[in-house]
Amino acid sequence: MTDKPVGPPTTTSYEAEPDQVGRVLLLYSGGLDTSVMLHWIQENYGAEVVTLTVNLGQPDEDYSAVTQKAVDLGAIDSRVVDAREEFASDFVLPAIRANALYGGGYPLFTALGRPLIAKIAVEVARETGCDTIAHGCTGKGNDQVRIEATVATLAPELKVIAPVRSWAMGRDEEIAYAREHSIPVKGGTESAPYSIDDNLWGRSSEGRWIEDLDCAPQADVFQLVTPPEDAPDQAETVVIGFEEGVPVSVNGERLELVELIDRCSEIGCRHGVGIVDHIEDRIVGLKVRDIYEVPAAQMILTAHRELERLVGTIHQNRFKENLDAEWAYLVYAGLWWEPLRSDLDAFMNESNKQATGEIGLKLYKGSATVVTRSSPNAVYDAQLATFSESGGLFRQTAAPGFIELFSLQSRMAWRLRNQGK
Ligand code: ARG
Repeated sequence: MTDKPVGPPTTTSYEAEPDQVGRVLLLYSGGLDTSVMLHWIQENYGAEVVTLTVNLGQPDEDYSAVTQKAVDLGAIDSRVVDAREEFASDFVLPAIRANALYGGGYPLFTALGRPLIAKIAVEVARETGCDTIAHGCTGKGNDQVRIEATVATLAPELKVIAPVRSWAMGRDEEIAYAREHSIPVKGGTESAPYSIDDNLWGRSSEGRWIEDLDCAPQADVFQLVTPPEDAPDQAETVVIGFEEGVPVSVNGERLELVELIDRCSEIGCRHGVGIVDHIEDRIVGLKVRDIYEVPAAQMILTAHRELERLVGTIHQNRFKENLDAEWAYLVYAGLWWEPLRSDLDAFMNESNKQATGEIGLKLYKGSATVVTRSSPNAVYDAQLATFSESGGLFRQTAAPGFIELFSLQSRMAWRLRNQGK
């Protein structure tokens, strides 16, 4: 046990003063930052550390290796929670119903994952007698907002520390610290790797050439999706079935949501679908560029949006677009627990009651295009659309009267403003 770090008193209700830290629940990925943190917290606070790793469907993660590493680095307990189903049903599904895209292209996979990770951290912290939650976010990103807002909302009695935000170590110092304390460092240590975050709804890469706005995407960033130019020359059609806004089948085969997302991901990846090169306004003020690989989200959201267009009236469709954007903004901004979000969900659930049907997507070298649609609830009648007047609700002869009244105010205003000209 060494001296407690000294510093100015914190200014927020939830940040821990050094003497308040006795046992820490560390959100642990097994990577360099959180491994250095695991050692650093023990050394600098003289605190015990419990680690938590949450499985949200990160591809190719070896959780037993992560747990073993934590124990080797001195954790008194090392937990892994498989939260894939809860993530899919309670976080991704509402996002699907809300057609959630931030900034026109980001399907929010990280933003959806953070409140769940932080909620589980609160549960495990309480269970294991921790007084403080530690995370590895920097001070530049949105993730710190999402995690700390969640902890402060759900557990006012718990404190938070964010060592990466407060310590003065850069990557080179972290590697030196790791070497000095026998913390294994994976991969090359020369150049910084991409900063990656992923789960079953998508994967993001930041850093390196991505920060150079001028630089076109380099192939080595794509770990999931086949570059479109290398995708098969043969297009493939995939039919996604929905019941009340819930995706339930792929090509007629019924699947649970986690499995369905994985299936779409696999097919989409093969066809180069879901690459997004995104300029983004972070909630903390910075503008950044992210490279996203989101094959399943691209396919499922495209299909869901199309189905809603089919079953909604003009008024429902115009109105919901605005609410969708508001939902995406709240979630992006880390306000998952804001009551407006659940108010909006109530609306989304109601309007999605009509969203039952099947949408066919043609996948071809990076694109996913809607080619077929069917729904028992479609507000569509091919007979009416052919203008047959036989017993239909639509009368062509009524059209001129409609135009006369619909354009009335516009015509009056035009006349008034242009009088005498
Ligand atoms: N820009 C995205 C967001 O703010 C992705 C962030 C990825 N997070 C990370 N720690 N690499 O949600």
